[in-house]
Amino acid sequence: MNAPAASARPIGVFDSGVGGLSVLRALQAELPLERFVYVADNAYAPYGERDDGILRNRSHAIADYLIASHGIKALVVACNTATAAAIHTLRADYPELPIIGIEPALKPAVASSKTGMVGVMATRATLNSEKFRKLLDGLHGTGTFVLQACDGLADAIERFDSTRIQTLCSQYTRAMGRFGNAAGQMDCLVLGCTHYAFVAAELTALIGDQASLMEAGVPVARQTRRLLEKMQLALPQTQHLADGATAQTAGFYSTGNVALLDAAMLRWLHREVKTLALQLG
Ligand code: DGL
Repeated sequence: MNAPAASARPIGVFDSGVGGLSVLRALQAELPLERFVYVADNAYAPYGERDDGILRNRSHAIADYLIASHGIKALVVACNTATAAAIHTLRADYPELPIIGIEPALKPAVASSKTGMVGVMATRATLNSEKFRKLLDGLHGTGTFVLQACDGLADAIERFDSTRIQTLCSQYTRAMGRFGNAAGQMDCLVLGCTHYAFVAAELTALIGDQASLMEAGVPVARQTRRLLEKMQLALPQTQHLADGATAQTAGFYSTGNVALLDAAMLRWLHREVKTLALQLG
């Protein structure tokens, strides 16, 4: 049998858990004909409270698996925390593989802000990372960023614990200060963790609709398409799919509780999937 054309191979996507599904949703909308293999590293979630060494080991183990077992043509690191810790070592180790990461959308947020005050919710590891520090330094003088490490929030979303989600969202938005469009108020809230996209409604109810939420799933999906096209790895967009339909996903894998991913896919992406258990290293 001939090896499949490079463009026919799937795209790998991973996160510590269900958060990266917010990126997968954007990827499937942008690239409806592509096949995706999703890995949730639930056994090591939450990533946001782990150190860089572990995050790097896990990211490399997942990349190795996706390359060896699925022959992926590109890798999307659908996790701000893993991107901050490991994107440079991943790119160094797999120079041939297009690798797309995600970072908190500070630039578009401050560009669209009228008050110049931007709130940023992210994991502790993302906010403490060198990559984030550099991003912030590069925006010095453009506005004021109010940073909030949201310990426990990704975990609460992972377990769909609505009481804890409500308590933590309210605690963290209150701690950041006032949201609104008057001078001195934050009129933009950056969701710097892919999990938080799934509590957008709860956050909007708390901060009011004068402030807007900014997440990076759609820009990451667009960047993925651009990169695939540039490298001639995109599938020719000739087939016709019914509105809203997506190509068959190549697979869902979890290193922990498979039921969490199945439930999250149904709840947020309205798709029934059967996640398979995965053991890595
Ligand atoms: N979804 C991840 C992120 O974007 C990590 C959440 C976690 O596991 O702490 O940062």
